[in-house]
Formats: sequence, structure tokens, C-alpha cells
Amino acid sequence: MRHLMSPLDFDTKELDELFDLARDIEVNPEKYAHACDGKILATCFYEPSTRTRLSFESAMTRLGGRVIGFSDANSSSAAKGESVSDTIRVISCYADICAMRHPKEGAPMVAADKSLIPVINAGDGGHQHPTQTLTDLLTIRNLKGRLDHFTIGLCGDLKFGRTVHSLIHALVRYEGIRFLFISPEELRVPDYITDMLREKNIPFEEVIRLEDVMPELDLLYMTRVQKERFFNEEDYVRLKDFYILTPAKMELAKKDMLVLHPLPRVNEISVEVDEDPRAAYFKQAQYGVYVRMALILTLLGLTNQ
Ligand code: NCD
Repeated sequence: MRHLMSPLDFDTKELDELFDLARDIEVNPEKYAHACDGKILATCFYEPSTRTRLSFESAMTRLGGRVIGFSDANSSSAAKGESVSDTIRVISCYADICAMRHPKEGAPMVAADKSLIPVINAGDGGHQHPTQTLTDLLTIRNLKGRLDHFTIGLCGDLKFGRTVHSLIHALVRYEGIRFLFISPEELRVPDYITDMLREKNIPFEEVIRLEDVMPELDLLYMTRVQKERFFNEEDYVRLKDFYILTPAKMELAKKDMLVLHPLPRVNEISVEVDEDPRAAYFKQAQYGVYVRMALILTLLGLTNQ
């Protein structure tokens, strides 16, 4: 039995197969409409979510399967003090696969250890968000035609943003990737990540001003300042509008640069940028469904249909 805890759980060859499957699902959806008939996905979300939970639900429904679950820890037995390990043992009797989001780093891993069904980490605290990374990689691969030889700018909350942490880990396995980390001092990428990049000799720079590096970027990954992970409101208010991507800033960028964002957006991309053909974030949300369909099929061992 296989779980997905980190984007590194799949090697690059397996990722290619997953992305090819996602592509086939996009082009031939009817071929997969009954692939999960009789199967049940449990979505156990102990933390708020729109996209991730609904895209999992949409993915399973489009495969012909059904969905059960909860979207609020207060409405689950966690409110009565049940451990994640006990919850997953019980859910293993009700469902065939589980997607779990939790505010505590490592909680889905604890669940996977006791689970009798595949568990997917749908975001654990400020740690990892592997299915968002699969979505990001599929978007880059589909819209750019490759996953190597890029300068990618990651901008915003690089400290608490789990999508950023997962994406960096996944991208270091491809050739010719150069990272530009654009953040205020207080929200810099954690040391364990920069240490890993130094060890692997992967080029990166840390800068504060987005405008300074905009012309160099092939990809710009914008992120929201993660309000819920701040210890005080004052710091959040001071930092939340540090970056706002506007049409004027987009003029500094390459004609074929892509703007990605895991969403939800708050203020960091002005809505006028949505009209720019380089804005790929809504397309990215759509690819998230195909890649989660491919992932469910893969983890359930249903790819050879
Ligand atoms: C992200 C998350 O939950 O980490 N959202 C998502 O899943 N698309 C990003 C965020 O909340 O800022």
C-alpha cells in the first residue's frame, strides 16, 4: 500500500507517468468516468480549505466514486479528543482512500502509519502540500512543455507557505533550475531549505524587491501571507500587502513568463492581472482536478483500465 506524504514519494519517472495519465484524463474524460465505481474517498479536513477539498471531491466524483468526510475538526470526533491514529483506523473501515489536511506538521504521517488504506497529505501545517505541488508541476509541464531549465521566482510568504516548501523540494530534482526567493526579511525561506540547496549546489538568491528580478523570471509563483500561522496580528497587518502584482509590474516581465498562485489570493495579485495571458492560476486550479484524479487511480492501483 502506498501513501503520498511528500512530493518526493514519487520519483521523476513516476511523476511523468502520473502527468501523462492526467493529460489523458483531460482529453478523454469519458474513458475514466467509471474507473472508481464502488470506491469511496474520505476527506478529513481539520483545517479550512476550498480548492483542495473540493478538487478531491470533484476528482473522485468524476471517476464515478463517492465521497464522505468532514471539513471542520469541530464537527468530527477530534472535538471529543480522539487521536488521528484512532480516527484513521475507523475511517479505514468506511473508505478506500483518504485525503487528510491538518494544522499540525506530520499529522497525516502519523495517520498513514496506522492506516489500512492509502492516505494523501492534503497539507500539514506549514510543512508540505504535495498535491498542490503535483498541480504546480503539471501546470508548468503543460503550459511550458518542460520541467527543467527555468529561473523561478517564489514571492511572498516563503517562511510559512507549505506550497513553496513542497515545490522547491520537487523542483531540485530537475536540471538547470535557479531559484529567486522574493520575500521580506521576516518571511524568508527556512534555513533547512537553503541548507539543502547549498548542499546540492543549486543556485538561489534571496531578494526583497520583486521589480529587481522580474525581467529574469520564466515563472513567478506568488503566495498569500499565511495569516493563520502568525503569532500576532500586528506582524500580519504590516506584511500582508508587502507585494502586490500589478499590470505595471507585469510589463517588466518576459512575454512568456507564467504567473502561478496556489490560491486563495488575498491582495497579492491585483484582479487586472487576471486578463493577462500569462496569468495561469485559474488554469492551475483546473489541472488540480486532473492530477488528483490521476493520483487516486494510481494509489488505488487502478491505472490499467
Ligand atoms: C494553499 C494551502 O492550503 O497551503 N492553498 C491550496 O491548497 N490551494 C495555499 C494557501 O492557503 O495560501
